Amino acid sequence: MFKSLVVAPCAALFLLLSPVITQAAEPIVIKFAHVVGDDTPKGKGALLFQKLVRERLAGQVEVEVEVYPNSTLVGDADEMQALLDNKVQMLAPSLSKFIEYSPKLEVFDLPFLFDDEAAVARFQKRETSRELLRSMADRGIYGLAYWNNGLKQLSANQPLRNPADAAGLAFRIQPSPVLEAQFAAVDAKAVRLPFSEVSKAMQSGTVQGTEGPWSNIRGQSASSQQSYVTETNHGVLNYMLVTNSRFWTSIPFAVRSELDGILLEVTQTVNAEAASINAREREQLLASGGATLVTLTPEQRQAWRAKMQPVWKSFEAQIGSDILRAALTVNRR
Ligand code: LMR
Repeated sequence: MFKSLVVAPCAALFLLLSPVITQAAEPIVIKFAHVVGDDTPKGKGALLFQKLVRERLAGQVEVEVEVYPNSTLVGDADEMQALLDNKVQMLAPSLSKFIEYSPKLEVFDLPFLFDDEAAVARFQKRETSRELLRSMADRGIYGLAYWNNGLKQLSANQPLRNPADAAGLAFRIQPSPVLEAQFAAVDAKAVRLPFSEVSKAMQSGTVQGTEGPWSNIRGQSASSQQSYVTETNHGVLNYMLVTNSRFWTSIPFAVRSELDGILLEVTQTVNAEAASINAREREQLLASGGATLVTLTPEQRQAWRAKMQPVWKSFEAQIGSDILRAALTVNRR
């Protein structure tokens, strides 16, 4: 049920003329659900949004942001449907999780496409990426911003130095055909699993490895068997902050403008701090003995790249050569 915001006729006219916040008929509740911890780039972003909304809108309009981390309200298998059903109003799934709704977003999953995080950040600012942000609006999913996490590493219960070391192992992946193809390229098996099931699957031996940015690997390290992390930086795991299109447009313009301003600020903070959060998580994981670092030589990294890069060609038609070309122009080689 969408919030009905009742405004007296003269107030409605006033609202049209000036973005002054008028008390909504009932409180606006934004349930923000996600699958990782509070201490990750996304978790911190959600909490900062909650805090700023409380501070900035206090005494003006009742907007409450409820944050549900660690899949406590919905997990990644059912979060998108929950958003469409307006059971949650804000999510920030990784870009791999939108493939069903916007296959062009698969560009972000292509292995070894971006040279570094700065290249990804440049791409996210390009017109192509801005269009991708709006590509699901007619399906009811409204993209508000890109939130960074970082580059992915490979973690496994054995050291992975050469692509042949991955052959025959099963890796947990997010629901993305590109990621499936990426692991098939090194003769490994890919198993799609929700994030909340990764630790259990590692413990039970259903999978022997996974991939993710340092903050996610650290978050799972206590309860999983990822004793080796190979620093491959082979792909990106960033997020799209999304809301339910109808819910968002049901919010009075003045309140929405205020929320947009807060989100801009939160996005800048998340994106400025993601790299240092990952660097800190990396240091802490390695210092605690939670994992052994495997550093690749340039030749070894090149061998992984050579195996995985042909995946680009297989997905070019689906993603669009224009989008692929636009992504390649952000590298500075
Ligand atoms: C994953 O499923 O590995 C990630 O999308 C989790 C997350 O939200 O960072």
